[in-house]
Formats: sequence, C-alpha cells, structure tokens
Amino acid sequence: MIFVTGGAGFIGANFVLDWLAQSQEGVINYDKLTYAGNLNNLVSLQNDQRYIFVQGDINDGDKVAELLEKYKPRAIVHFAAESHVDRSIHGPADFVATNINGTFSLLEATRAYWKNLPEDEKATFRFLHISTDEVYGTLSDEDPPFSETTAYAPNSPYSASKAASDHLVRAYHHTYGLPVLTTNCSNNYGPYHFPEKLIPLIITNARAGKDLPVYGDGKQIRDWLYVTDHCAAIRRVLESGRLGETYNVGGWNEQTNMSVVHTLCDLLDQLQPKTSGSYRDQIRHITDRPGHDRRYAIDARKIEKELGWKPAETFETGLRKTVAWYLANDTWVSQVQSGNYLKWVDLQYQGKTQDQKPATKEVA
Ligand code: NAD
Ligand code: DAU
Repeated sequence: MIFVTGGAGFIGANFVLDWLAQSQEGVINYDKLTYAGNLNNLVSLQNDQRYIFVQGDINDGDKVAELLEKYKPRAIVHFAAESHVDRSIHGPADFVATNINGTFSLLEATRAYWKNLPEDEKATFRFLHISTDEVYGTLSDEDPPFSETTAYAPNSPYSASKAASDHLVRAYHHTYGLPVLTTNCSNNYGPYHFPEKLIPLIITNARAGKDLPVYGDGKQIRDWLYVTDHCAAIRRVLESGRLGETYNVGGWNEQTNMSVVHTLCDLLDQLQPKTSGSYRDQIRHITDRPGHDRRYAIDARKIEKELGWKPAETFETGLRKTVAWYLANDTWVSQVQSGNYLKWVDLQYQGKTQDQKPATKEVA
C-alpha cells in the first residue's frame, strides 16, 4: 500500500483517483479535512476495497505511527499542507503549524517506522514530498526559468513554510539516510480545484454573474500545468526518481493572469453564452496581493531527461476540460461554497474593488 497525506484536497484527490485507476495497489488517505479537504472529491471510491480513509492531523505523531505499523505502506506521498498564499497573508500560524511542524512530525514518525523495517523493505521504501516552485521566489521577465539548482528565496509565509519543509526533508535524507524524493511543481489547475484559487474562482464567479477580481495590473506570470500531468510526474518520480534528488515539474506554459482570465471568459462565452455581452465585462482590477511574486516559470528538463516525463495536455485542451468539468458539476461547486467559503470571500475581497484601469482592452 501507499500512504497519502492530504488526499482529500485538490491535487491529492486527483492523485488518489488516478492511482487507483491505474494500479491495483491500495491507498490509505490520511487527511485532517480542513476547509480544503473534501470527501466529495472521492465519492466514487466509497465501495472500493483498495481505498481506506482516515481523518487525522499530520501533527499527531502517535496516530501516524499507529497507522504506519498497522498498514505497513511501502511509500508515503506527502501532499498535506495549507496551500493558499492569500490565506497565509491573513493568518500565517496555520502554515507554520501544518507545513513546517506537521512535516517534521510526519518525518519523525516515518523515520521511526522505516528504521525498523526489514532490510529489503527499508531499501525500497520512499518518502515523496510534494512541494512548489514558489520556494524559489520570483523571476524578472529576463531571468531563466527555475531549475533544481536555483537558490531558495521564498517571499510569502506560504512559500517560506514550504521551503522550510523542503529543507527538513533534505536533512532527513542527508543525516538519517531516509529515502526521500521531492518534487517542486508549478501552478496546477483542473477538476476539484477549490474556488479560492484563480482559475476555479474565475469560472464560478463568472457563472454567478459576480466580479472577476484581478490583482493589480494582472501581468503577473504563472506556469500552468494540468493536474493529471502533475499526478503522472509524481508517479514517475516515485517509481524511478533518484534518492535525495529534487525534480522540478512544470507545464512549459507561462501565461499572464490577464491572459488566463480572458481565455476563461472566451471559453465560457462559447460553452455557456450570456444573454447579452461577454464574461469579460465582469473583470475588475482590485488591490494587489502584498508581496505578490511577479513571475514563476519552471525548467522541467531534468525530469524529462531522467524520467521521460513531459506534460500530455496543452493549456488549450486542459483549460477546456476544466471549464467543461465545472459546467457539469454544479452540485460539487455549491457544496464547497459553504458558509466558511463565503466568510473567506468577504475577508479577502470586501472593499477591494477599485477598478484601476479598463480591463477588457488589455493585451495579455
Ligand atoms: P489543498 O489545499 O487543496 O489540499 C490540502 C489538503 O491537505 C486538504 O485535503 C487538507 O484537508 C489537508 N490538510 C491540511 N492540513 C492538514 C494536516 N495538518 N494534517 C492532515 N491533512 C491536512 O492543496 P493542493 O492544492 O491540493 O496542494 C497539495 C500539495 O501540493 C501542497 O503540499 C501544495 O503545497 C503542493 N502544491 C500545490 C500546487 C497547486 O497549484 N495547487 C502546486 C505545487 C505544489
Ligand atoms: O506555483 C505553485 C503554487 O500555485 C502553489 O504552491 C500554491 O499552493 C497554489 O495556490 C498556487 O499559488 P498562486 O498564488 O500562484 O495561485 P492563485 O491561484 O492563488 O493565484 C494565481 C495568480 O492569480 C496569482 O498571481 C494571484 C492572481 N489572483 C489570484 C486570485 C485568487 C488574482 O489576480 N485574483 C484572485 O482573486
């Protein structure tokens, strides 16, 4: 079996679904079910004997230790984290607690379990840490994309907490010999994406006739990757990654936020036209994110060269699938837009609508 943390979140759930669609090997999904964890993402597995869900916190070392002893997984894939940059600006404490202390606690439980395994199982065991390109900080337009040797320079409480967790994982390999692997991936998008993040927020707000909030000038750049491509990269690294190595994962797909928002509006105009006008009419520029990183871009040559991975989806195909998924899953959308979500939207967006410039004419 493999032991997955955070498997009820966006990427974790896509990973668990993909894994069980391609392998007979079982999965234990250990997830605290924070606001971002959603068992509706995994409802299709409710009668699947290969799947076990346990609600719990990665900070609960005793519980993790008990589960590792009980199920004897051959690998841990660690997704669990607080993942939203804007939330880390409002309240960094949860990010330190889960991303740093939680990863530390998980590493300690893993180390205790791993060192008592029989030699052959000890040799094949893997701890795969899922991290982000944000640990590298921000790029100017002229800089080359982030490679595995780019110096860490995290700028937000979120990215700083992820960077700290990456360092702990690295240290457990160097000091204790724990067989670790780390992936640093760019922005994911696709089904089950919680609508606090740009792409699902734009799709759901557009359909609800609400403002489409673009921070600052909207010229920030992200490198977008369809989530199942990320899942495929994780499987490749787990299978054949070199111990102690980090692998950058990205879509070779740099887009300004304005361009992403325009493309989404155009797709919605095609797939679900409004009675009059375009979804672009709902775009509003609002106050920028404090410390907003200008550009992320990933150099994904190492994983391609060593492990033969490259993205299967283009932005065109991936975004079309994503919009179609949201159009077909109204129930999922209305369930996640609960009271808690509405409180977050108020906290983050209330009073920030200040059209700085007309958006619709802007070139990406
Ligand atoms: P998410 O916020 O959608 O899901 C996080 C999951 O972790 C949730 O199910 C939540 O309940 C669970 N969780 C949170 N705290 C926990 C704790 N203390 N104990 C156990 N479970 C806990 O996140 P995501 O977007 O799916 O990201 C997953 C991982 O991938 C994160 O580590 C993130 O840093 C990394 N990552 C995300 C992206 C992206 O674009 N979303 C890109 C690169 C890397
Ligand atoms: O790069 C990988 C990271 O990508 C992951 O590590 C994070 O977990 C994930 O949340 C994501 O971080 P970003 O901050 O890049 O994603 P987000 O969707 O929040 O924002 C994408 C861009 O869109 C960013 O430049 C901020 C901007 N934005 C976002 C929101 C929510 C807006 O302009 N308006 C918005 O309302």
